[in-house]
Amino acid sequence: MTVQTVRTQPFLDQKPGTSGLRKQVPTFQQPHYLENFIQSIFDSVEGCQGQTLVLGGDGRYYNRAAIQIILKMAAANGLGRVLVGQGGILSTPAASCIIRKHQAIGGIILSASHNPGGPDGDFGVKYNTGNGGPAPEKMTNAIFERSKVIDQYKILDASDVNLDRIGTTTLGGTRVEVIDSVTDYAALMESLFDFDQIQQFLTRGKFRMCMDALHAVTGPYATAIFERRLNAPAGTVQNGVPLEDFGGGHPDPNLVYAKDLVKVMFGDNAPDFGAASDGDGDRNMILGRNFFVTPSDSLAVLAANATLVPGYRNGLAGIARSMPTSQAPDRVAAKLGIDCYETPTGWKFFGNLLDAGKATLCGEESFGTGSNHVREKDGLWAVLFWLNILAVKQQSVEDVVKAHWATYGRNYYSRHDYEGVDADRANTLMENLRSRLSGLQGQTLGGYTVAYADDFSYTDPVDGSISSKQGIRIGFEDGSRIVFRLSGTGTQGATLRLYLERYEANPANHDQDPQVALADLIQLADEVAQIRELTGRPAPTVIT
Ligand code: G1P
Ligand code: ZN
Repeated sequence: MTVQTVRTQPFLDQKPGTSGLRKQVPTFQQPHYLENFIQSIFDSVEGCQGQTLVLGGDGRYYNRAAIQIILKMAAANGLGRVLVGQGGILSTPAASCIIRKHQAIGGIILSASHNPGGPDGDFGVKYNTGNGGPAPEKMTNAIFERSKVIDQYKILDASDVNLDRIGTTTLGGTRVEVIDSVTDYAALMESLFDFDQIQQFLTRGKFRMCMDALHAVTGPYATAIFERRLNAPAGTVQNGVPLEDFGGGHPDPNLVYAKDLVKVMFGDNAPDFGAASDGDGDRNMILGRNFFVTPSDSLAVLAANATLVPGYRNGLAGIARSMPTSQAPDRVAAKLGIDCYETPTGWKFFGNLLDAGKATLCGEESFGTGSNHVREKDGLWAVLFWLNILAVKQQSVEDVVKAHWATYGRNYYSRHDYEGVDADRANTLMENLRSRLSGLQGQTLGGYTVAYADDFSYTDPVDGSISSKQGIRIGFEDGSRIVFRLSGTGTQGATLRLYLERYEANPANHDQDPQVALADLIQLADEVAQIRELTGRPAPTVIT
């Protein structure tokens, strides 16, 4: 086995986005494309020689091939040990857990999260640091800079590793340990939640649940935890076998893409509880019988009830939410007398707050919820948290949420996505808005008086770093908000996201359809930003 040094030329488009480098599979399959990016990572991580690296992905097309390449490059670059999930499978939260538990220097996670997979679908590479969380911007920038000048990479000339058999082999001087994908993660869940109580709840009464893994990475985790450890009936987990193209589906747990689950949960004789997760297992959608829990509300409910759960019995240090997430969690934090942090979109901004002990729970409107147990959002963790709360309260999902609104008021909330819009048009829309911001304050628009209008900028309270241009916010005097931003995870054209929020204190008005409750603001957003005219789209692609 010899180390080969391969000459290469830089690709100029390897800038990591919201969540690592995401491109379509054929882009990654170009000669040297993946190798250049991986070498740029190894060149940017100081002192990786002799260290442990965690490696795995969501099982999508190109996962296995990429893992073989990365293993040989890790060996050529002098890593001491690589822990790789069996079959190349590691969910994003499991990878985070394993990095932390085994004191790895970091991990490489292969996923394009909720984007479709298959030969023409998307693929992605993300580097996580030793705390288990996504690399901070300083580091992703360093990787990008390196990728622009790289002229060679190192790879071991060796045969492929058997990824399906658990055990240890060596590649050059590197130990490659193929580990069970689920064990460490399941143990962590058991340390946080009252598994006995959840088990009784799932097996002794009439409670029925349905978990849709959307043929993505959560399948093996959910089957092991719900059906084997917690004894839920076989069939509780649906679409539980990970497929390279997710069965042709779009592995995103929302009302549009998880339509089979939605049909069951809103049909006759629906189960009591439904949940879904995304391609790489970090997102979650929570449903009750004929009832949808908005992710922002979900974070608020978990925070308000956290002390019912063993892992959070001592209370929360603080809550963090991304800027576009509704302000429902802020109300819980105010009542608990703890801080609520508002960060830019993307999980990487939560890491410092969690590491510094400033926040315990965090979440995003985009179906992401998590805590200080790992440094990623965590789909199954959220499902178990809900089950634990329901088991203690012996109430339905709808009852728990409605009681929450009665106490705190309801933040009506919705996100409208315009996907695959022409990038120039989307940029024009944002630029037009930006140029109008300074004149908006104090103006009355459609009956709403503008309290502030800005392009969100965040100063990290731990390291002082500043992230600017994180989304345009127009806030009104009654607390309502409209937020506009462009997606940082798409791979084709641009995706415009419009976020809408209105607060309603009176419980007598809590039963409206959010699209009706927000109708004025939806219209106002179109007037202010000329969305329909500039995107050429009569309506959003996805409404959540
Ligand atoms: C989207 C979500 C964001 C999430 C990210 C990764 O990013 O909006 O909250 O952290 O996916 O799952 P966006 O496409 O909006 O940049
Ligand atoms: Zn994801």
